[in-house]
Amino acid sequence: MQITLEIIDRLAQSIQSRIKSQPHIGLILGTGLGGLAQAIQNATIIPYRELPDWPVSTVMGHTGQLVIGELEGQPVLAMQGRIHYYEGYTMQQVTLPVRVMQRLGIKILIVTNAAGAIQPDFVPGDVMLITDNLNLAGMSGLNPLIGPNLDEFGPRFPDMSQAYDRQLCDLARKVAREGNLLLREGVYAGLSGPSFESPADLRFLRIAGADAVGMSTVSEVIVARHGGMRVLGFSGISNKANLDGNSITSHEEVLESGHLIVPKLETLIRGVLRSL
Ligand code: HPA
Repeated sequence: MQITLEIIDRLAQSIQSRIKSQPHIGLILGTGLGGLAQAIQNATIIPYRELPDWPVSTVMGHTGQLVIGELEGQPVLAMQGRIHYYEGYTMQQVTLPVRVMQRLGIKILIVTNAAGAIQPDFVPGDVMLITDNLNLAGMSGLNPLIGPNLDEFGPRFPDMSQAYDRQLCDLARKVAREGNLLLREGVYAGLSGPSFESPADLRFLRIAGADAVGMSTVSEVIVARHGGMRVLGFSGISNKANLDGNSITSHEEVLESGHLIVPKLETLIRGVLRSL
């Protein structure tokens, strides 16, 4: 399905007609992290299925609705449930929500995900500030910007040298410091999934410089940057990646760790929003 400006604008108008104020900040809540949306006040809820052409999340742990309201006085639009490439959608469909956010005038995108720890020091329940990413799906030809360039949003060859906004990263560090919260930092490797990595995959990723690995986020960040948004990203470490092949990774494990991660993410995101 070719995503056109008409499709994007129809969605933006459909959302606009149902909300009172203009959201400034977009929030994508990853696997098991949807509970964060409960912190949003004066919320208007729009199930994805009520939006024409909006891809619907099919995975356990993803509710599948927009929650639009206020968090720390900032107007936010949160995706409670994201869409993944492995569900069978195209890269353009996966990133359609980010395009719609851009047409709604949203200038800052906060992305969250569940990720496996490659860095041996990280433990389940940790939160990692994403300082950069490895676009492994893109290196194998899966980039959401492949196809005609949407000139209305950005250039054919967008820069990705500072994908994660340095000022926003500094703000997150400050909030963590002040809240006495351990904030890890590192590089997120984005794979297509849905199979988890083999031990050899993981050893390769470690040599390549990855600290955490997951099945999302990178394509959204590329589209966000293409459209000039500032991006802040957090990985909730849900499991230790199985580099030696002696343990098993499961979706249930990933979902369970959400309980530890959501309160930390809430502190971080609230703190950042307060300081904006
Ligand atoms: N690998 C890939 N994706 C993930 C993982 C993992 O170990 N944990 C959560 N999402």
